Amino acid sequence: MKIAPSILAADWLNLSEEVSKVEAAGADLLHLDVMDGSFVPAISYGQDIIKAIKKVATTPLDVHLMVNNPESLVDSFVDAGASILTFHVEATKHPHRLLQYIRSKGVSAGLALNPGTNIDCIEDLLDEMDLLLIMTVNPGWGGQKFIQNSILKIDKAKALIGKRQIEIEVDGGINENTGKICAQHGASVLVAGTYVFGSKNYAESIGSLR
Ligand code: DX5
Ligand code: ZN
Repeated sequence: MKIAPSILAADWLNLSEEVSKVEAAGADLLHLDVMDGSFVPAISYGQDIIKAIKKVATTPLDVHLMVNNPESLVDSFVDAGASILTFHVEATKHPHRLLQYIRSKGVSAGLALNPGTNIDCIEDLLDEMDLLLIMTVNPGWGGQKFIQNSILKIDKAKALIGKRQIEIEVDGGINENTGKICAQHGASVLVAGTYVFGSKNYAESIGSLR
């Protein structure tokens, strides 16, 4: 099980310290949420903040693009230091081509699905992706409640993926309880923002997710 704390819930005025603390506490990846104010209502941060994080980070950067027209931004996020680059299937007409393009840049390609998007849409994309991100809340904010129906989606994803080497990542409302259920159903990466950064002891909260 990999744990990916989401920087969205960190103390941004002390980002360098937060990154070091969460890595020392056992984070496997740093989850970086990019929001454009169009695909989702909020605007978070972009390439320059990620470049700055890359300078101090020792764990891979797991970049989650919640943006429209991700094809126009992929190159700049590769340059910023992403190890995994995930975009939303709802945000582009050409997910197949974009997954291939991300891989061609030597970066792991991830596909994200909103809670309202049927899992069957991944079927013809499976051979092009390294990671499937199942949103367990509607994207846009941290601190929302886990959507229970996501469990069924993980089951369906697992069946579609079969023997392929594709990580199943869940994102939104993950805590000790919801994380355990997702793991039992086949999730291999847990994103957690509020649960980790809102806790007093990052090592304890990360440990409880594992
Ligand atoms: C939501 C983001 C999440 C968010 C998760 O749009 O994609 O990564 O940071 O936050 P929590 O863990 O607080 O639900
Ligand atoms: Zn995310």
